[in-house]
Amino acid sequence: MSILPLLPLLPLLASAPTPLTVVEYASTPNGFTTPPRGFNSFGLQVNTGAQPSFAFNQSSILTQARALVANTPASLLSSGDYYISLDSGWSVGCNGDEYGRIIDDTTKFNISDLASTLHGMGLKLGVYVVPGIFSGDGDKTIEGTDISIKDTWGGHDNGLCRTDFDYGKEGVQQWHDSVVGLFADWGVDLIKLDYVTPGSPSPGGATLQPNTSGSVIAFHNAIEKVGRPIRLNISWKLERNASFFDIWEANADSMRTDQDLNAQGGDKLVDWPTTQRAIENYRQFISTVIQDDHLPLTIHPDLDNAFIGNAENVTSVSDAMRTTIATHWLASGANLISGSDFTNLDDLGKKLLTLPEAWVDVANFTARYPMQARNPGTGQNSSQQLQAWIAGPDESGDAVVVLVNYGPDQGQGGFNTSLEGTQNVTATWADLGITGSYDVRNVWESEDLGTFDGQISAQLDEGESQLLRFQRSS
Ligand SMILES: *[C@@H]1O[C@H](CO)[C@@H](O)[C@H](O)[C@H]1NC(C)=O
Ligand SMILES: *[C@@H]1O[C@H](CO)[C@@H](O)[C@H](O)[C@H]1NC(C)=O
Ligand SMILES: *[C@@H]1O[C@H](CO)[C@@H](O)[C@H](O)[C@H]1NC(C)=O
Ligand SMILES: *[C@@H]1O[C@H](CO)[C@@H](O)[C@H](O)[C@H]1NC(C)=O
Ligand SMILES: *[C@@H]1O[C@H](CO)[C@@H](O)[C@H](O)[C@H]1NC(C)=O
Ligand SMILES: *[C@@H]1O[C@H](CO)[C@@H](O)[C@H](O)[C@H]1NC(C)=O
Ligand SMILES: *[C@@H]1O[C@H](CO)[C@@H](O)[C@H](O)[C@H]1NC(C)=O
Ligand SMILES: *[C@@H]1O[C@H](CO)[C@@H](O)[C@H](O)[C@H]1NC(C)=O
Ligand SMILES: *[C@@H]1O[C@H](CO)[C@@H](O)[C@H](O)[C@H]1NC(C)=O
Ligand SMILES: *[C@@H]1O[C@H](CO)[C@@H](O)[C@H](O)[C@H]1NC(C)=O
Repeated sequence: MSILPLLPLLPLLASAPTPLTVVEYASTPNGFTTPPRGFNSFGLQVNTGAQPSFAFNQSSILTQARALVANTPASLLSSGDYYISLDSGWSVGCNGDEYGRIIDDTTKFNISDLASTLHGMGLKLGVYVVPGIFSGDGDKTIEGTDISIKDTWGGHDNGLCRTDFDYGKEGVQQWHDSVVGLFADWGVDLIKLDYVTPGSPSPGGATLQPNTSGSVIAFHNAIEKVGRPIRLNISWKLERNASFFDIWEANADSMRTDQDLNAQGGDKLVDWPTTQRAIENYRQFISTVIQDDHLPLTIHPDLDNAFIGNAENVTSVSDAMRTTIATHWLASGANLISGSDFTNLDDLGKKLLTLPEAWVDVANFTARYPMQARNPGTGQNSSQQLQAWIAGPDESGDAVVVLVNYGPDQGQGGFNTSLEGTQNVTATWADLGITGSYDVRNVWESEDLGTFDGQISAQLDEGESQLLRFQRSS
């Protein structure tokens, strides 16, 4: 008898929201406190129809850089966090210099010249590398040593013209030091290290070693020694379990949480199914961060390039969806690198890339507090078509809240529902894990919505969201 009165409580207990654990970023391993912004070339390199006049060489890159500067307020640029990041193809593919160091393909680029030109424009330069060392450079000697490159090998040719290191061997760190030293002499400010495992799949005949996390450690060690601030951005879809997350967060400044987002090979830059997948991967990432107590968080997620600058004929997603991409990348404190064609921004694209309230106030807040999922109605963190997120609150009680309707699951969103048309998305304070009353402002609409106490609702069409600033009202 005595047990019966407890039974009706069970469903309530099951759906009681977990207390909110505020996630906070700390300084990253190479000393950065904000995510990088700017341009990465990959979207335009592979989606050649999006901007047919783009060629992956110094003149096209400078054309993009000039367009970025022309469209970005000086006050934002002077924050110093804007990068022009070159993707794969800037360097000689199958050999290094006399010491086996990675060198620029001079038919396309002069990197030291590009770096000084970009620095003169208030921008920084990023370059792209992959783990391992050129298979054809085995008989060369590592700079400043008498160690043969082949004596550092621990694997086979991985299909990228490179052989993997045995990361325990003498000479491995010295080679990374010599490469980063050369990059620093040129004026490089960011290194994107791709094909890191475990995580990266083996595309196009590549046969990656299962664990190249040693490359992340070696590049980090080299950056620490070189005396120039350099970010280390690692890629892609990196394994997030404890054994490897510990390595990523101790060595890199940002990590890719998903595969490529761009719609490779066409005339469009992105699509909605992969965007749903990227957001779902971020949800898994941030839930893991909280569950496994990687707090404070010392690595920023990289959701891949933010394709928010160009109209629907180039991005292939609706304006509402494009705004939703901007909202999610900003509110998660993710890398804010755009793959857009900066020579062809539309009015919405300019707003999404520069609105001060988003790029100063919200970005500053979410560079400290990334958003986490709090399901409408339960406060749980599962994947849902109708979703609510909260970043913060900070010490004064302010927060950033996102309400969203992702639209029907396109196959990889993780939520599996297909509610069509406009939906009412309501988050209560219990769902969000907060109390009190807040002055609420819709950021993209630049509109004060009033003072709210207890819950907030939005009518949202498929793919539509609201980016809301919550300010504690006295
Ligand atoms: C997209 O539309 C804009 C504006 O109408 C136009 O300038 C641009 O050339 C178009 N791009 C493509 C790839 O169709
Ligand atoms: C870059 O490519 C364009 C188009 O093919 C060409 O006109 C230009 O001369 C090239 N610039 C350099 C620096 O190679
Ligand atoms: C690259 O540019 C630098 C600086 O402008 C110059 O000194 C150097 O000679 C150039 N290198 C090549 C290979 O042209
Ligand atoms: C992966 O490689 C890193 C660096 O060499 C090493 O510290 C780690 O123990 C390896 N992990 C596994 C599971 O092999
Ligand atoms: C962590 O990931 C590695 C590589 O995918 C895998 O071998 C290992 O079993 C995973 N460990 C756990 C505890 O899941
Ligand atoms: C996310 O949900 C899972 C499953 O309900 C739960 O175990 C975990 O604690 C939740 N994590 C957070 C951060 O709320
Ligand atoms: C870091 O690498 C990821 C993965 O390719 C890319 O999406 C992002 O734009 C890169 N960031 C920079 C600054 O290059
Ligand atoms: C951003 O926040 C920091 C505190 O973390 C503050 O010192 C700084 O002034 C803020 N910057 C802007 C532009 O609001
Ligand atoms: C969605 O469907 C897949 C495949 O049927 C299943 O594995 C997954 O658990 C479902 N997810 C949710 C949130 O229902
Ligand atoms: C949306 O749902 C909430 C919670 O049920 C309700 O309070 C609100 O009135 C609804 N809004 C509309 C426009 O239906």
